[in-house]
Amino acid sequence: MKVAVYPGSFDPITNGHLDLIQRGLMLFDRLVVAIADNPNKKPLFSGQERKEMVEATVKDQNRVEVLLFSGLLADLVNKRKACAIIRGVRAVSDFEFEFQMALMNRRLAPHTETVFLMPSEKYTYLSSNLIKDIARFNGDITSFVPEMVKKRLKQRFGFS
Ligand code: PNS
Repeated sequence: MKVAVYPGSFDPITNGHLDLIQRGLMLFDRLVVAIADNPNKKPLFSGQERKEMVEATVKDQNRVEVLLFSGLLADLVNKRKACAIIRGVRAVSDFEFEFQMALMNRRLAPHTETVFLMPSEKYTYLSSNLIKDIARFNGDITSFVPEMVKKRLKQRFGFS
């Protein structure tokens, strides 16, 4: 049983994340979507809200598990005996940070390999931060996020 962990902030989940989940499922038996509850970051949505949105989005995927975690990603992958950490890379600018994190995680969790996946090119310019920026000014985000995420963003910014 090959288990991979797909960690991130998911604030909120986008179609780009979903695309990566589908790609991850082609390579691994189970995928653990691990939502970081990092007290240093100020997310728009609470950990619980982010988890609900991811769960609603992947509810038909029985090989996907969703959890909130705090602490080290390396501890989580060791505990879950995951063979891989999945990260998405969209542009060269993602690379430096990802490279640093992958090598540090390799040091902390030597049995887990970081695997970089590219989303479909139609999502290469997508990020949760951009989506929030557009939603904040009531811009159209229909093609970037699942319908329920769009609703939650509209509510959060007072447009419904
Ligand atoms: O979606 P993001 O914000 O790019 O995800 C970053 C995340 C959550 C994967 C990273 O910050 C993380 O792994 N946090 C957990 C704490 C940790 O293990 N830090 C050391 C990483 S080498």
